[in-house]
Amino acid sequence: METNAPKRRDNKKSLRVKVISLGNAEVGKSCIIKRYCEKRFVPKYLATIGIDYGVTKVQVRDREIKVNIFDMAGHPFFYEVRNEFYKDSQGVLLVYDVGLRESFDALDSWLGEMKQEMGSQANMDSIVFIVCANKVDLTKRRVVDEGEGRLWAESRGFHYFETSAQSGEGINEMFQAFFSSITDMCENGGKRPVSEVSVGFTKEQADTIRRIRNSKDSWDMLGVKPGATREEVNKAYRKLAVLLHPDKCVAPGSEDAFKAVGFLFGINTHSDICWLTSLHK
Ligand code: GTP
Ligand code: MG
Repeated sequence: METNAPKRRDNKKSLRVKVISLGNAEVGKSCIIKRYCEKRFVPKYLATIGIDYGVTKVQVRDREIKVNIFDMAGHPFFYEVRNEFYKDSQGVLLVYDVGLRESFDALDSWLGEMKQEMGSQANMDSIVFIVCANKVDLTKRRVVDEGEGRLWAESRGFHYFETSAQSGEGINEMFQAFFSSITDMCENGGKRPVSEVSVGFTKEQADTIRRIRNSKDSWDMLGVKPGATREEVNKAYRKLAVLLHPDKCVAPGSEDAFKAVGFLFGINTHSDICWLTSLHK
């Protein structure tokens, strides 16, 4: 029998979400967004003045998602403008340039600025973070390798993608994962699903491996002050040995970090290291 009843809509209600982009000036935030939304790349640098705003619609499974994108200026000069826009975000693109170490090292201070501006609202578990290691097309000038970037991201429960706004590499995959995770989070009552934050190693392990990789000297590697006593050095070594032991630590790079610390205590004959060990004989 024919009825005049309106057709039942099977689609779930559409979602409206807010995402922001963060990272130092010139790392490629605007170009990543432009590559995804407009399918083009602009080689000339046009600094974002304060904030650029745009809206796009995407389909995730059976849901339509309306995405409000706030593309922030990375230059410190615009702090007063962008600080208003951190609140109520469901997603954050954290971008660095793989050829500029300072842009990678700055990621912690971007998170710090965000936490500070969100104040009491700062519930980072209700936000999906994607780390974009951008400009991977410029292979010759690369200084931050994939292992280091991935370790930083995944130890914090963040996604990690290698991207190039110039060639388009990784851009669609990154945005698909981004919007799909935001949708999962919204359907999970606003909490980031637990599976995404469980990577099998701790932030302390990841941060320690990073410190050892970038250490300037043996003291730095051990995490003690220059001139630390033998007792302090031994204590630091024991702590690192437990933290990074290959049986206990599955973080990428842990084996190399464990070996590097082991070298300090006898195997290596490098002068700087001998100096440290002989100091305490
Ligand atoms: P602010 O708005 O100042 O915070 O900078 P931004 O992070 O938005 O940087 P933007 O997207 O404007 O890009 C800065 C420069 O890097 C421009 O000259 C881009 O053409 C260039 N660029 C961006 N992404 C890439 C990339 O993946 N590869 C290469 N080779 N260049 C890129
Ligand atoms: Mg920009």
